Amino acid sequence: MNLLICNGSPRGEMSNSATIAKWFLKDQDKVILLMKGPKHQEYLDILAAYDHIVFIYPLYVDAMPGIVKAFFERVAIADGLMAGKKVSFIIHSGFPESVHLEVLERYHRILSKKLGFVLADTIVIPGSEGFRLMPPKQNRKKQQDVMKLMDQFRIDQPFDDHLVRRLAGKRQSNKMRNFIFSLLEKTGITNLYWNSNLKRNNAYNKRFDKPYTEL
Ligand SMILES: Cc1cc2nc3c(=O)[nH]c(=O)nc-3n(C[C@H](O)[C@H](O)[C@H](O)COP(=O)(O)O)c2cc1C
Repeated sequence: MNLLICNGSPRGEMSNSATIAKWFLKDQDKVILLMKGPKHQEYLDILAAYDHIVFIYPLYVDAMPGIVKAFFERVAIADGLMAGKKVSFIIHSGFPESVHLEVLERYHRILSKKLGFVLADTIVIPGSEGFRLMPPKQNRKKQQDVMKLMDQFRIDQPFDDHLVRRLAGKRQSNKMRNFIFSLLEKTGITNLYWNSNLKRNNAYNKRFDKPYTEL
């Protein structure tokens, strides 16, 4: 079965979501970028043509990115558009613990009741920030797991629970990991990547700004 893959990252084609999509993309599948807000109306026609839809999106500020919410709002007013369709979600986060994503799994269940689609499952992949930068070899295990799960989705088989749990990894960090992290934090190594992003965007000197406390 061909898949419609909806990439819900505001980074679009340059995103980790796009990297994950490539892990299981097949020739006859179609990818749409939800970042193109004005295109949401035209995407509804594409959506209508598919029975199997995968939404991939990152956790942004502990929630679903606004562009994904906006898209579901368009879908909600297009009466019955998603009724009976099979939907699966792949959600991922910067933090390496799956606990941060749990609230969205519950939200997907509510969405499926409201919009009438059949929820296959939510695949959770924490610690995704480096995916687009890593050599493919480094993500191979995750790629294989996601590919197997998506192959199951294509033929309406229930997801292999073992693979779903393996991708989700640890729910919460333990004391030892927290301790090691606090040591690494002191060396500055844990902030290297984020600080380089801030510098590239001329925001490094503003990183401790508190604009709302001055209102
Ligand atoms: C504006 C913004 C907010 C974010 N908020 C969170 C967050 O609340 N929790 C988290 O674990 N990761 C957060 N992240 C990290 C992203 O989930 C992570 O980098 C992800 O890989 C981005 O995927 P993408 O490239 O597909 O957009 C945030 C990233 C950005 C840019």
